[in-house]
Amino acid sequence: MVESPFQYGSLATKDNFIDRVSERASLKQMLFSGINVSLISPRRWGKSSLVKMAMDELTSERKDVRVCYLDAFSIDSMEDFYSKFASAVLSCTSNKIEKAWSDAKKYLGGIIPGLTVSDGLNDIITINFRHNPLNDNQSQILDLPEKIASDKRIRVIVCIDEFQQLAEMDGYEELEGKMRSVWQHHKNVSYCFYGSKKYMMMQIFNDSQKPFYRFSETMFLGKIAQEDWVPFIVGGFRKTNKSISEEFAVEICEHTESHSWYIQQLSYFVWSDTDKEVSQEIMNRAYRRIIDTNAPMFMSDVEKLTASQREMLKAIIAGETQLSSAGAREKYRLGNLTTITRNKKILETKAFVDSNDGALEISDPIFRAWFAEKYMA
Ligand SMILES: Nc1ncnc2c1ncn2[C@@H]1O[C@H](COP(=O)(O)OP(=O)(O)OP(=O)(O)O)[C@@H](O)[C@H]1O
Ligand SMILES: [Mg+2]
Repeated sequence: MVESPFQYGSLATKDNFIDRVSERASLKQMLFSGINVSLISPRRWGKSSLVKMAMDELTSERKDVRVCYLDAFSIDSMEDFYSKFASAVLSCTSNKIEKAWSDAKKYLGGIIPGLTVSDGLNDIITINFRHNPLNDNQSQILDLPEKIASDKRIRVIVCIDEFQQLAEMDGYEELEGKMRSVWQHHKNVSYCFYGSKKYMMMQIFNDSQKPFYRFSETMFLGKIAQEDWVPFIVGGFRKTNKSISEEFAVEICEHTESHSWYIQQLSYFVWSDTDKEVSQEIMNRAYRRIIDTNAPMFMSDVEKLTASQREMLKAIIAGETQLSSAGAREKYRLGNLTTITRNKKILETKAFVDSNDGALEISDPIFRAWFAEKYMA
């Protein structure tokens, strides 16, 4: 059994991680210098992998830096947020579990009534606030990284993945105001927020009426260039004693429009179907397979849309740029102008479409192919 050189579904690390040279350098530089970053890209282009890689490099270069990770997808209430935030900060700033315990008592002592501390199986400290902490205590918890950083003379970087998910929770507005007012005083802590729903991220970070306006530097993550993917694909086959021509490697990039996850997935399908050398037939089968594999997920997403929202997707795929024009409205049954405005917003919020300089487009190439095949053939 040979291990596949192509992987998806987990973060790209080590040999599997390519390029992102300038992005890694600027992320490291900004976060180390105390500049907060909000990093945005469509789903699965490689945000989480990039942050992890850049932060691993930084911590190996600088012994005085600690990085905490929080995934907003796993948070379901305010008390859960405070619990996980405190746990992540205490765990990453202490070298030993015993130390994290005593830090918990030292820094959260005042909040102890609702606090239980347990060391899990895996050397991670878990703080549980059984109730949403009281007002003053909330601020103290949010202040925890700065307190610890200045006491221990270290720099702390707090990374919050899928940050926009927090905005979907009850009580977010209050939390948002509080985070901003506490965190803006932090001198030894920087924050990295990343998320895949551009529309929601922009509403949080780029709206002058909102607390997080100008709190961070916005970084739009682009795609990895085809010139970097092609040698990675060709090399992956070669080191496992198989071969793929450069032309087919280019075809993989084109089918997937250099989308990080899909490139790895399609390369894997081609690789696993190949004995020695890739043929056109193998390429075609693999392309079929990538659409079929993702179809159930696409289907369940599309089922949640209304008929007029689906019609709007058709119009966009067909290249219609004037969705509000009488012609387009009639041709695609898009509904009245109010419906059109609402549907645009819903499709953007749900990240089916992206708006670039006002033009709507569907950034997921496999979804687009599947949708066209199913609804427009
Ligand atoms: N630098 C890279 N080099 C090679 N492959 C990559 C790289 N970045 C991402 N990938 C591929 O893309 C997949 C998705 O990456 P990752 O989970 O980091 O993206 P993401 O933007 O955080 O996704 P999500 O929107 O789901 O959170 C990885 O599993 C890997 O296969
Ligand atoms: Mg991610």
